[in-house]
Amino acid sequence: MKLVNGFDLMEYAKKYHHVLPAFNTTNLEMTYAIADGLMKANLPGYIQISSNNLRLSNPQIIALIAQDAVKKSETPIGLHLDHGKSFEDVKACVDAGFTSIMIDASHLPFEENVRECRRAAEYCHFYGLPVEAELGAIRGKEEDVVNEAESKTDPDMVADFVERTGCDVLAVSVGNVHGLCLNPHIDIPLLAKINQVSKVPLVLHGGSGIPKEVIWEAKKYGLIKINYGSDLRKEFISTFGKAYEQNHNEHDVIHLSLEAVNNVSAKAMELVTMINEH
Ligand code: G3H
Ligand code: ZN
Repeated sequence: MKLVNGFDLMEYAKKYHHVLPAFNTTNLEMTYAIADGLMKANLPGYIQISSNNLRLSNPQIIALIAQDAVKKSETPIGLHLDHGKSFEDVKACVDAGFTSIMIDASHLPFEENVRECRRAAEYCHFYGLPVEAELGAIRGKEEDVVNEAESKTDPDMVADFVERTGCDVLAVSVGNVHGLCLNPHIDIPLLAKINQVSKVPLVLHGGSGIPKEVIWEAKKYGLIKINYGSDLRKEFISTFGKAYEQNHNEHDVIHLSLEAVNNVSAKAMELVTMINEH
């Protein structure tokens, strides 16, 4: 299968009542592992890469790897730009063949956030791609960016924000935390309020550590996509770390890389299965 357009992927998820995991990649190994995990589970989802990680794997390279990784897939998989930090990154990813885009201008004042998202949405819509925008600030460590201050999404601003940005899916801050935070307090009543006033489906960032029961509950209130980064990165890194702890002369890159692919794939499969159990 080819990479699937983001609008079609969301339609598919709605039709079959799936919540879509978006798994963060950094490199070739993680990209193959994510595709493998989704294919083994036979469930749809996204391979996604953040602007930050494009320093190592540029948009064309990661798009080529992702296209190859999904070619035997019988389940729909998209390639998403995560936390797009600039209009240049948005354009580069659209041009490279990404199938959906996030523009993250949530650190900016409201009007500037609206302006940046609107600009990205106009560009992406011209190419038939959906755009995810973020309203509110999510606490924790997202790549190099540490955000101590949480600012939950204000439901009173949602309808206006969605209308004026033209975004197709909305990332919210409802107690979700970036990084390896176990059992963060997800404010389900707030999510329910946001869902009432949002005409687009919702996204939870910071999926690592959120209990499955909370995700199943969130599905009742517009959740269509949940992002997982740290859980997969931990699997990848610990594969090499454990081998080094056992043998400081370890230098078998190919076997450890293949083992890392297996471990990341198993984690992706476990997570996509878990969130879709109910
Ligand atoms: O955008 C990426 C995610 O929100 C990942 O969050 O590392 O807490 O799973 P996480
Ligand atoms: Zn995130």
